[in-house]
Amino acid sequence: MGIRLKRIASLALALAFTLGMANRAADLSAPARAEKRGMRAICAMEFQGSGWSGWTDGALVPPRAGSFPTSFKAGLVNQPDGMSGTIQYQANISGRGWSGTRENTAPVENEGGTALVEGVRVWLNGDLQKAYDVYASALVGGEWLDWAANGQDAGRVGVGTHLDGICIAVVGKGEQPPRKPGTAAGARALDLSKPMVALTFDDGPAEYDRRILTALEAAGGRGTFFLVGKNIAARRDIVRRMAEGGHEIGNHSWSHPSFSKLSEKEIRFQIQKTNEEISSAAGSPARLVRPPYGALGGQAKPTLAAMGYAASLWSIDTLDWKTRNADRTVSAVLNQVKDGDVILMHSLYAQSAEAVERMAPELVRRGYQLVTLSELAGARGGMTPGKAYGAFR
Ligand code: NI
Repeated sequence: MGIRLKRIASLALALAFTLGMANRAADLSAPARAEKRGMRAICAMEFQGSGWSGWTDGALVPPRAGSFPTSFKAGLVNQPDGMSGTIQYQANISGRGWSGTRENTAPVENEGGTALVEGVRVWLNGDLQKAYDVYASALVGGEWLDWAANGQDAGRVGVGTHLDGICIAVVGKGEQPPRKPGTAAGARALDLSKPMVALTFDDGPAEYDRRILTALEAAGGRGTFFLVGKNIAARRDIVRRMAEGGHEIGNHSWSHPSFSKLSEKEIRFQIQKTNEEISSAAGSPARLVRPPYGALGGQAKPTLAAMGYAASLWSIDTLDWKTRNADRTVSAVLNQVKDGDVILMHSLYAQSAEAVERMAPELVRRGYQLVTLSELAGARGGMTPGKAYGAFR
């Protein structure tokens, strides 16, 4: 992006922020605020040769190198009851200009489907636009551009430069936009043509997380930590370090019950209370939920779907909790790992930390990128609420 454009974008962002601050006087009541926290924006893109991606509330990038977006759609999950409004959007189609306005998950029309998307505009209307700001960032030429707020152009429109990817987010009116992909601790370039694996650690924050973080970082990797809510208060410093290091924090319930045996109300409590604790320690709630034991019977799946979450499972279970043996944990991974695997380990044992210290450099030597689960999912078409995911091939 040219310096002039960049300056305009940041000025506009500053203006949007200032306007938002002025609106705080008319803030929502406490219950409405609590409800508000859960609303998220999701989007999907149609890519040449591979069709529509899944819905994601994270960074959306092509399913494989050299495949570019030809259409776009967006939606909201957990829109507060009684709050009017929709999410609306347009896409700028190469050679044709801005499309008609679409809303609430209807795809932008791109007849023939071969012209590429150069940019998008996303905004809210009705009550929603008074309570929220919506942001979009475009991935162009390997760089995530500055956030475009409330209907500004995201992308380099009109110069024949297509988007590679997109990321959208809603925040309360006047709040800071979330960290966009590829900035600050999030900054790094993933090579979509190279294999990836996601190392995941359950049941923390716990004693061995520091060793695990250090081992991952020494290998230039990032991990995903599914935290048990009630354990967070005692180890907030570790949770903060995870977030600052660009690792991903997932939600593993408040007290580790099997969701298959809980009511919808109880499942919501388990997830929401944990997200409050994660937000308080790390600055933003978890985008991923891993149900304890992977249990998805009873009300678990419909409740996750209604809350806008997929179930983040795994494809290689190291059984580290059972063997408590670093050699066996390392072998369980290195003997069967393939591109797109999600590895299950736990934060509770010294032998698991030792196993990470040994396997992380070896995985890198074999050409794997050690990515977060959202990075892996984003690179492979995203996740759809209510579905369960193991590997991402
Ligand atoms: Ni667990």
